[in-house]
Amino acid sequence: MSQVFLGVDVGTTGCKVVAIDELGNLLDSETVEYPIYTPRPGWTEQNPEDWWNAAKEAIKRITSRKRVSPELIQGVGLTGQMHGLVIIDSEDKVIRPAILWNDQRTFKEAEFFNDKFGLESVIKITGSIVQTGFTAPKLLWVKNNEPDNFEKIKKFMLPKDYVGFKLTGDIYTDVNDASGTSFFNVEKRRWAEDLITELEFSLKIFPEVLESNDVRGVVKREVAEKLGLKPDVVVVAGAGDQGAAGIGAGAVKEEIISVNLGTSGVVFTSSDKYRYDLKGRLHAFCHASPSKWHLMGVMLSAGGSLRWFRDNLCHLEKIMGNLIYEDPYNIIVREAINIPAGSEGLIFLPYLSGERTPHADPYARGVFFGLSLKHGKGHMVRSILEGVAYGLMNSLELMYEMGIRFNEVRLVGGGSRSLLWRKIVTDVFGLRTYLLKVDEGSSYGAAILAAVGVGAYKNVEDAVNTIIKTVEPIDPNLDDHEKYMKYYKLYGRLYEKLKDEFRILADIA
Ligand code: XUL
Repeated sequence: MSQVFLGVDVGTTGCKVVAIDELGNLLDSETVEYPIYTPRPGWTEQNPEDWWNAAKEAIKRITSRKRVSPELIQGVGLTGQMHGLVIIDSEDKVIRPAILWNDQRTFKEAEFFNDKFGLESVIKITGSIVQTGFTAPKLLWVKNNEPDNFEKIKKFMLPKDYVGFKLTGDIYTDVNDASGTSFFNVEKRRWAEDLITELEFSLKIFPEVLESNDVRGVVKREVAEKLGLKPDVVVVAGAGDQGAAGIGAGAVKEEIISVNLGTSGVVFTSSDKYRYDLKGRLHAFCHASPSKWHLMGVMLSAGGSLRWFRDNLCHLEKIMGNLIYEDPYNIIVREAINIPAGSEGLIFLPYLSGERTPHADPYARGVFFGLSLKHGKGHMVRSILEGVAYGLMNSLELMYEMGIRFNEVRLVGGGSRSLLWRKIVTDVFGLRTYLLKVDEGSSYGAAILAAVGVGAYKNVEDAVNTIIKTVEPIDPNLDDHEKYMKYYKLYGRLYEKLKDEFRILADIA
């Protein structure tokens, strides 16, 4: 081992740092958590200083325990939760807590943006419908609701870029994260100046944009000393968490789809040209690999649906798990193993916190459909796993309709470790699926970008081809696939039938 790279992921619950060598071997990993604040229902905020303290602490732990020699660390790559708004004033102080990607307050502002420019041109320019959680409506919200704070803004930043700023003293973002702001011309890979001026924002508050493998600076001498790093360590621009996860899964070719079964569910593929879904159901963003774009379908509650079930309906399984030192999820999922495909007529719509792909509908809600006396807890669990797989299938179908032809599906994220869930997704898709030899997600992708940035690899594709290895292929059971497709059609119809009812429910509740 001659060179080491760090990947720093400023996530929603904590900051994870990994250390890898130039061949992608995982050498060390550390996570430091921080709180999330909900000052009002539907609002989510974090303190950027908490991100910075957590990043420092995680890096310090890695350099001080010396599983890697700190003098071998050549580069740091950044990634993090996307769409968050950080604003700083002329003294470089954070003006207010950061507003996060899952904050729902900006509903009206998102609608205003979409109406002002018209959906067709919004989607064409920014690659997606402006969603409540994206950055532009947040900046509009601050302007409309906190004019004093708005007046003070020198720059706005995305979460990982704040950590980049503290590390280097320089303010940049990258094309991938910028794509999630709704202020970015995704095809041209630069700020959408027309939209920005039309909204009466000053271009001066926008950070300069780099490609994800470009160098954004070096760690400041005094910071390096505190972190146990040598002073000239290079910091690479990096990417949003999904963009970096795409690199970590090796999804840099159109034939490869990565499916992330985390709290949210993400279907991600690369595209050699800019193409977007005319209805904006998929996000079309700049890829972290220069001159490529990516398409992404996002389900808001994938693993999140199972977590909701565990936390609200599985207290006994939690207690039992603690007693026998087993993850309660394993106990819960085991209850579903002997239930046949299709959950004997029970269908779950996983829209617990609204949905992005394919409905872009903040009003949608979760549903168990078809409950009968024969259904027990195991059926409910299985129908949750199946409902999420159907939701992922929606994204796969949209990509197919757009002409993407894939021949390899890679399953990543926590949910892919459940064999049952893997089988269900494989059978619903009717396609062979693979796991990754190293599945470390966004932080791993950021470390790979750092390796490319310092020149250890010619380019991102070259790095990914050397580093990423797939393992454990499984093939679909085609009988079950056929059965699932009947349920899948009904699953789609259910949403269409309930769409208006969800709105009425929101009004009543
Ligand atoms: C991507 C997205 C999430 C957040 C938080 O569009 O909203 O991945 O970045 O993880």
